[in-house]
Amino acid sequence: MSEILRIENLHKSFDDLEVLKGIDLTVQSGETVVILGSSGSGKSTMLRCVNFMESPTNGKIYLNGDLIGTERNGKMTYKEAELCTLRSRIGMVFQHFNLFPHMTVLENVLEGQVIVLGRAKMEARDKAMAQLERVGLAEKAFEYPSRLSGGQKQRVAIARALAMDPEVMLFDEVTSALDPELVGEVLKTMRQLAEEGMTMLCVTHELGFAYHVANRVLFLNEGIILEQGEPQSILKNPDTNRMREFLDGHSLFKLPD
Ligand SMILES: Nc1ncnc2c1ncn2[C@@H]1O[C@H](COP(=O)(O)OP(=O)(O)OP(=O)(O)O)[C@@H](O)[C@H]1O
Ligand SMILES: [Mg+2]
Repeated sequence: MSEILRIENLHKSFDDLEVLKGIDLTVQSGETVVILGSSGSGKSTMLRCVNFMESPTNGKIYLNGDLIGTERNGKMTYKEAELCTLRSRIGMVFQHFNLFPHMTVLENVLEGQVIVLGRAKMEARDKAMAQLERVGLAEKAFEYPSRLSGGQKQRVAIARALAMDPEVMLFDEVTSALDPELVGEVLKTMRQLAEEGMTMLCVTHELGFAYHVANRVLFLNEGIILEQGEPQSILKNPDTNRMREFLDGHSLFKLPD
């Protein structure tokens, strides 16, 4: 396995509030990393810094060995054009899927490929169909999002991100807003991606997914990685009381069918 993402000493503050206080993380190609932590611990901020939706206050991020940004006098500076390219290399899926309601499913999956990557329409269309097939929704290609279930919309959002051929995929609580009976189909899609070797960073409260699918679990607490380890050991025997308390508040380990 080779290193695909490296985060060094990542700090992020919003005015006086220091949210990330020095995150170090190296992710190998094909790894699935689950990030756990209570509300406000900085999970979303961390993912948003990785794809530069938020600019880190300090620290360095490398994607496939490339340092993102330029170092000047010990400070990183970022050019918008470089960040646009970077964002196309990192797919992100959110809790709310943000599909365009006036476009069909296929058009939603096409759009970014044509606009951001400059792909020819036919190529983008083939790619979009292939990704919809991958998430099990090829037959919905010509529907509008309003006619899909929440789980289906979320799978379209995943297909849309995959169509950009990302090197890494970030998932931020993608099942949290779904009705319980729809959670399973989205987790199944994510599990399949993990098994296909996609590199994934997933913020989720689905401990069953963490237990059965992740290669590594991180526990973020007050802006630092308090502990990390293999899911089978860390989820059963965390080192810290803080993580133990967090886990006590969650029901464990059933992976929805
Ligand atoms: N754009 C922003 N401006 C100011 N404060 C922010 C901003 N984004 C996040 N914060 C603050 O940073 C802290 C961490 O937020 P973040 O969204 O990263 O937490 P989280 O771990 O994802 O929580 P949750 O589980 O509720 O999603 C919170 O105190 C939040 O209020
Ligand atoms: Mg969050």
